[in-house]
Amino acid sequence: MLQTPYYLIDKSGLLRNLEKIAYVRERSGAKALLALKCFATWCVFDFMRDYMDGTTSSSLNEVRLGHERFGKETHAYSVAYADYEIDEVISHADKIIFNSISQLERFADKSTGIVRGLRLNPQVSSSSFDLADPARPFSRLGEWDVAKVERIMDRISGFMIHNNCENADFDLFDRMLGDIEAKFGSLLKQAEWVSLGGGIHFTGEDYPLDRFADRLKAFSETYGVQVYLEPGEASITKSTTLETTVLDTLFNGKNLAIVDASIEAHMLDLLIYRESAKVSPNEGDHPYMICGKSCLAGDIFGEFRFPNELKTGDRVSIQDAAGYTMVKKNWFNGVKMPAIAMKELDGTIVPVREFTYQDYEQSLS
Ligand SMILES: Cc1ncc(COP(=O)(O)O)c(C=O)c1O
Repeated sequence: MLQTPYYLIDKSGLLRNLEKIAYVRERSGAKALLALKCFATWCVFDFMRDYMDGTTSSSLNEVRLGHERFGKETHAYSVAYADYEIDEVISHADKIIFNSISQLERFADKSTGIVRGLRLNPQVSSSSFDLADPARPFSRLGEWDVAKVERIMDRISGFMIHNNCENADFDLFDRMLGDIEAKFGSLLKQAEWVSLGGGIHFTGEDYPLDRFADRLKAFSETYGVQVYLEPGEASITKSTTLETTVLDTLFNGKNLAIVDASIEAHMLDLLIYRESAKVSPNEGDHPYMICGKSCLAGDIFGEFRFPNELKTGDRVSIQDAAGYTMVKKNWFNGVKMPAIAMKELDGTIVPVREFTYQDYEQSLS
């Protein structure tokens, strides 16, 4: 038995998403690149590779990881590149997408040998959190002035537009793509490729995959462009759990159970967006607040129901622990870093990586 805490990536859960991605690629002609900012746990890249076209990145480290560990097509993007990293970024990438015209101009000479693109900001998005809203007021994420972009069209062949955020509503996607066409149609007609970014929850249950794929195909045909998608969350949703063990139980007006992991250290995104973790099936007569073991007062995974009283040594499995979790895990309080394990399609659990005191020590000096 593997010692908790550990992240358990279930390949059959991954496969459900990957098969939908492959279907959309096939029907629409769009290419799908894994967004490494969301999920970069490369032990499953061999498994994912057959269903996707490559990776996209947000930094030198990610573009290198994508190139070396995933392979296939590698897109480089960053909010801003530094002079000291640009050559290495280009050495790992098939395309480079600049966030601004000034970055494109700064690195124009260095990037003549690679396919170049620019991020556009359509100033509409589906985000309800300003923290994650690329179209927020004064956003630094991409260019929006068509006249300015027209002047550099001889230097680029495509665009990246990311304005969907956790969008599970096809009609909203469709409307926003319509907005993009109305605003940027003249630019899109000059492009050879367009990446529509991530944030589209098309692998979720009941998403109208055929309508989605047909809309992508129609878009591609109208402008004569190769469409790319950059699914992060959609690639890995519902594939992974954080396996924990109860260390202590208390009653302080509510039943509390403290587990051997921490939301602050191991599922930080939930805390940032003030969302509860998920436990399944979350049914039974015994409600508990599941608490993390860091000293942060609000280190709380959430309140859930269990069929029996919880006691020290019981296992609690936190659901949906792949996206924006493993890439953000940290050593707060020196809490033991969850190991990483994979559940193979036949149910076998394979330990992949454990983290030691030396990993903690070396991350600090
Ligand atoms: C440019 C870009 N592409 C892709 C993604 C992946 O988004 P998601 O994980 O929601 O699919 C993001 C997320 O912020 C992004 O900024």
